[in-house]
Amino acid sequence: MNIYFVTSRFFALIALTFLLYGFAIPSLGFHGTLERIKDGKAEDIPSYVYPLWNFYQKDRYFGVNTSKEAKHNLKKMIEFSEEIGVPSMPVWSFSLEAPNYPKEAFPQGLPVFIHFDGLSGEVHEMDTINHYVGMASMQRGAPYERALAPYALVIVALIFVLFIFYNNKWINRFMIIPMLLPFMFIAIYAYWLYWFGHNLHRGAITMEPFMPVLLGDGKVAQFTTHAYPAVGFWLLVAVSIFSFLAWWLKKRGLKEQSLKRATFVHHSFMFVFLLTALASTAYLLKTDIEVNKLEKIAELIHVPDLETSLKAEREEALETQKQEMQEERDEKRKEQELQIKALEERAGTLGKFKVSKMYKSNCAPCHGNSGEGNFGTKLIGLSEEHILKKLLEFKTNKDAIHIETIEYLSEDDIKNLTKEISQFGD
Ligand code: HEC
Repeated sequence: MNIYFVTSRFFALIALTFLLYGFAIPSLGFHGTLERIKDGKAEDIPSYVYPLWNFYQKDRYFGVNTSKEAKHNLKKMIEFSEEIGVPSMPVWSFSLEAPNYPKEAFPQGLPVFIHFDGLSGEVHEMDTINHYVGMASMQRGAPYERALAPYALVIVALIFVLFIFYNNKWINRFMIIPMLLPFMFIAIYAYWLYWFGHNLHRGAITMEPFMPVLLGDGKVAQFTTHAYPAVGFWLLVAVSIFSFLAWWLKKRGLKEQSLKRATFVHHSFMFVFLLTALASTAYLLKTDIEVNKLEKIAELIHVPDLETSLKAEREEALETQKQEMQEERDEKRKEQELQIKALEERAGTLGKFKVSKMYKSNCAPCHGNSGEGNFGTKLIGLSEEHILKKLLEFKTNKDAIHIETIEYLSEDDIKNLTKEISQFGD
């Protein structure tokens, strides 16, 4: 028994346990669940997912709006349409503090947790703020990375198993992958932070492109941000350190002892694990096909991004504004037209009945300005003959009413008046 090999295997086993417990098991078990919930196909969720999720959510953050009854109970969470986070260990976290999130109601600020395979925390609320400052929705980040994470975890687990069962230089080299896990996470996370900060659209407030803070405190608009590693990150660091130790010990062991041939027992065990890995991969694939994962990612990426949708919104608003203005203008014009028409009518009436001075001063007081009648009779529609006859009659017969007016009129005046009155119309 080589002490190096024994301790190396022991450390590898610890690393593998952390990996399985913290990431692989919850990630594989929960795979496809959120998609099924979103599609309204909760009945397709395998029954073991419920106790699994409930177990992993024990000391997790729950949104302030989550109803007490539903917390730690996936069935209720689905029933109440609560915001559901993925159960794997959160690797990174960031939170916002702002006056509108008072400490009493939001003791942790507004936290969001980043997992290998998804998000948890106040994602919805954070998206609202992101929208406000012109940032894309959080779901837009690392879609392929998150989708591939469970597959990658199966592969890393298989590397550990190979490492534990075989003392082989080649397998040793693959241990670099678990060693690099925390760094790989940070690299991918930093890339997406950069992406979010440099793919800003016009929000309610306009911001210059910027690099969101990866670690520590920062400020975005009026929000104070805190970014820090979460429990999953320390677990990854542990995986990394134990992988390094296992790798280093085995390297030393191999130097002192020549390669020992693997036995049939090793091969049989390995075969079982290989089958498990294959079955896991097949399960992941089957789930992804069932929930149309690729289609969902494509939808996510090709969602008309914020800028275009905002532009469309603005254009639409402009269009309605234009329409409203047009309608208003039309109405005003109609009104004006009516007014003008009325004015014209009045003017027309005035024009039509622009009577002579003689009529106005002598006859209008009794017969009206336009012959419409007042104290005297209506003079409209009378024939020239009739008028002349009457007037001559009034002049000679000294009619009581007309005596004073008509008596002094010359024959010419009477003729003119006759002509004028005969032309009075309705
Ligand atoms: C003081 C009021 C008064 C004045 C001023 C007056 N009229 Fe008359 N006019 C009457 C009355 C009342 C009648 C209806 C009774 C009548 O025929 O005598 C009438 C009747 C008439 C008639 C006959 C209408 C018909 O239907 O047969 C004519 C034409 C007429 N007036 C023309 C004139 C003219 C032209 C003047 C201006 C030079 C004038 N009158 C001034 C009160 C007046």
